[in-house]
Amino acid sequence: MPITIITGAQWGDEGKGRAVDWLAASADVVARFGGGDNAGHTLYVGDDVFKLHLIPSGILHDRAVNVLGNGMVINPVNLLKEMDTLAALGLDVSPERLKVSTRAHLITPAHIALDAAKEQKLGENAIGTTLRGIGPAYLDKAGRNGIRAGEMRDLEVFGDKLHAAIRAANQTLSAMGQPLLNADEVTPPLLQAAERLRPYLTDTARYINRRLREDRAQILCEGAQGTLLDVDHGSYPFVTSSNPSTGGALIGLGFGPTHVNRVIGVAKAFSTRVGGGPMPTELDIEDGDPAETAVARHLRGTGANFWDEFGTTTGRPRRVGWLDAVMLRYSCDVNGYTDLALTKLDILSGLDELKIAYAYELDGERLDYPPANADDIARARPVYETLTGWSEDVSAIRRYHKLPEEARYYIRRVEELCGVSAIMVSVGPERDQLIVRD
Ligand code: IMP
Repeated sequence: MPITIITGAQWGDEGKGRAVDWLAASADVVARFGGGDNAGHTLYVGDDVFKLHLIPSGILHDRAVNVLGNGMVINPVNLLKEMDTLAALGLDVSPERLKVSTRAHLITPAHIALDAAKEQKLGENAIGTTLRGIGPAYLDKAGRNGIRAGEMRDLEVFGDKLHAAIRAANQTLSAMGQPLLNADEVTPPLLQAAERLRPYLTDTARYINRRLREDRAQILCEGAQGTLLDVDHGSYPFVTSSNPSTGGALIGLGFGPTHVNRVIGVAKAFSTRVGGGPMPTELDIEDGDPAETAVARHLRGTGANFWDEFGTTTGRPRRVGWLDAVMLRYSCDVNGYTDLALTKLDILSGLDELKIAYAYELDGERLDYPPANADDIARARPVYETLTGWSEDVSAIRRYHKLPEEARYYIRRVEELCGVSAIMVSVGPERDQLIVRD
């Protein structure tokens, strides 16, 4: 069974790009199945830093064909920018290497304006979206008003649809007291993008199923965001508008579950979150007690390094906290992980003690699973176990048994609490800073 699915087990930014990059070397096809350019995967290859938002990480390998699946929402102008940046770095982004689903939905300037207007209206209850138009694009998809990538094939019809979409958005923007969009200004870049993207348009579900049938291709499905941001399984409404968990891969690419043999959950060795919404193990980086603030600063970093906890897409500082094994266990259930990939273990070096939340207290009850309601999650108090830290720099270690005993114990506790083994541990940003276990 040739399909591997990789998804984020937390609130996104787990380092999925690293895990995908590691497996992409032996993949025939690497496919994104959901989200859009709200995602940001940073990859370090030698002296080069690649920031990918839409294109799967398989583009950095010679062999893999890269697919943008039907479950995605794609900003055509930003896709072209990304393609041009990669081409300028010498990568092959020809239609032989990159295929865009005709069924994927397009993000237009109308969606971006509506995203910003809605966030502004929500004020202090804002979701803290990436302002890429993701929610409004999925809303149009579900409301059967969307424009699909395949419609870029006929420029005249595409132009008409864009104008109609902008007229409709202007009605909403006007009711919200927001500035209106000028269709004659905002549509030409999309029409130009459509012209260039036409050779890339493919029935990708058909392509994937043909590759599965005819040459037993190895297919790697690259998740974006994370399970805890899933519109069904996350802390609704503080979620994205798609299904970044494993089930989303089947719908977002169009294959059946019988092809899947491996499901890998990528989890950071601690917790981070960007945007609003509850995060039970969050550490107060500004006003906590000095010890808490110091740990939070240690986990976030200063922003001086690419590896620090600042968003790849938005540059926003990420909220940080101890590892939340209650959430991680829930993610393992929702996704059916066969393996975990634990990232950024190196960041924990130098902390005297480490904490892992293994339960919550809520209204006098002890819970070993997260409540469904965001307000309840916000009220839940984490119950921690404390582990001894390690001081050694682990970033040069490549063999599991060479890790300090305390680090191995930390990993073992995560595995025990979640019931899933960690097959890969990353200890630094470079491609080779990985420990792969037998
Ligand atoms: P949206 O996907 O832009 O609508 O944002 C909804 C929520 O998901 C916000 O809290 C974002 O910060 C979060 N989010 C979206 N994409 C990512 C991602 O790739 N990494 C981490 N958080 C994300």
